[in-house]
Amino acid sequence: MDLKLRGKAAVVNGASQGIGFAIARSLAAEGVDVLISARKEDALSKAAEQINAETGQAVRTVVGDIRMLDGCDNIIAAVRERGGVDILINNDGAPPLGNALDFDDLRWTRAFEQNLLSVVRMIRGVAPMMESRGGGSILNITALTAIQPLASFGLSVSTWAGVVGLAKTLSHELGPKGIRINTLCPGLFETPRLELAGGPSAAEYHEAAKMIPLGRKGDVAEIAAVATFFSSPLASYVTGTTLAVDGGMNKSLL
Ligand SMILES: NC(=O)c1ccc[n+]([C@@H]2O[C@H](COP(=O)([O-])OP(=O)(O)OC[C@H]3O[C@@H](n4cnc5c(N)ncnc54)[C@H](OP(=O)(O)O)[C@@H]3O)[C@@H](O)[C@H]2O)c1
Repeated sequence: MDLKLRGKAAVVNGASQGIGFAIARSLAAEGVDVLISARKEDALSKAAEQINAETGQAVRTVVGDIRMLDGCDNIIAAVRERGGVDILINNDGAPPLGNALDFDDLRWTRAFEQNLLSVVRMIRGVAPMMESRGGGSILNITALTAIQPLASFGLSVSTWAGVVGLAKTLSHELGPKGIRINTLCPGLFETPRLELAGGPSAAEYHEAAKMIPLGRKGDVAEIAAVATFFSSPLASYVTGTTLAVDGGMNKSLL
């Protein structure tokens, strides 16, 4: 199937590894001119080289910490320099795990800046450029916990639920400008993030994976495929949608 992505331009944040990397690689494989961002320059350059080697597509890089205004501004400036983009993927790491009420105001503010304000800043910067190109697609990567909360995930749940609400609001405000906005909620995917200190252990993840209807963790290529479709003109009538990509983990009807 031709996704009609050849010749489009994208910026993918948090793309030096994991889900963001897989999305950037998948878009590049469809002929998209991809700009990738993350904080660590070395890992970012290696990721760009790998995508180039695997897809034959040149990949640009820009360093930026999306928790900070100047980090977002760096990325937006690079997008402007390349002449704008048709596709924006909002993705990065996540705030720490722990009981919601144990975090002080500073931690809550950082979580807000990382998960929600970064998305506002990126869209505020990129949407006018999309509009001048005739429209575009914005995709937010959150987590299944944004729509099915769990203990210990309070910082993420609260801020990503805000992203889901923001996306729905913006689908109304940006739709008339030809800009679609959707949100993906990953369940459990095999990425370097699963090895983070302080999170569940490998054995706990193994047990959790057994509870997934499809019986396993996801491969990042599987969420990248969904993200690539959502970003493509073939999804031209899909906006304001929130989709779990979770092997059936979500237990609610919606
Ligand atoms: N893996 C899963 O099972 C799963 C499940 C549900 C939700 N998610 C969510 O999906 C997103 C991606 O997950 P992942 O597993 O791919 O994570 P990952 O392997 O840790 O990759 C995160 C990427 O984001 C970049 N990043 C992190 N913090 C950043 C910041 N402040 N500014 C700019 N870039 C930043 C990282 O590079 P640098 O460190 O160099 O910046 C890296 O490229 C996360 O928000 C995660 O919570 C993942």
